[in-house]
Amino acid sequence: MNKRELVKIGISYCMYICMALLLSGCSQQLSSDVEEQPTLAHVMDPLLNEASEVFWDSAGFIDTYEGTIDLTPTTEEGWQKVIDAADEITRLSAVIQEERYSLNRPAWNEISSLLVVAADRGRRSVADRDGAELFEAGADLYQVCVACHQAFWSNNRFTIAGTETQ
Ligand code: HEC
Repeated sequence: MNKRELVKIGISYCMYICMALLLSGCSQQLSSDVEEQPTLAHVMDPLLNEASEVFWDSAGFIDTYEGTIDLTPTTEEGWQKVIDAADEITRLSAVIQEERYSLNRPAWNEISSLLVVAADRGRRSVADRDGAELFEAGADLYQVCVACHQAFWSNNRFTIAGTETQ
């Protein structure tokens, strides 16, 4: 091997390293984008809050000057929205039980798993097209929110009045 060949190898070696550095810089950035996790506040609001509102807005009655409005779904899409919300609540129950949110607190995980119980009750009420039962599922769901907020959220400002003005 002559000197010129050595230089060539040196240069391509250097290029190889540079490419590797560039690529790893890239992939590091890519993977950190993908792995970026939402904050707990974001999982709560909008994700969990919006899914829950589908339950709360699909059951019960509202009194207006024109009369009483029954919120129970009257269309297939309306019932399907409740199923989708139940699926989302179930998914989010698992998300908030991830260690980064639960910090391995057993009571946290226990309360979180009750979200699934309420979601399942909602699903059954849809299967039976039972508005009263859906209302109960929504009430169960709300109790789970309150239970966790009372136990784990020191600045708890999640009150009934607060949700109504949101
Ligand atoms: C396992 C515990 C847990 C459960 C269950 C839970 N939350 Fe939360 N939630 C929290 C904690 C902790 C915070 C405070 C998060 C923060 O500010 O960092 C919070 C905050 C919130 C907030 C305010 C977010 C913000 O912008 O600061 C909303 C809205 C909320 N939760 C809605 C809900 C609803 C709706 C449910 C029930 C369907 C629910 N949460 C169930 C623990 C829980």
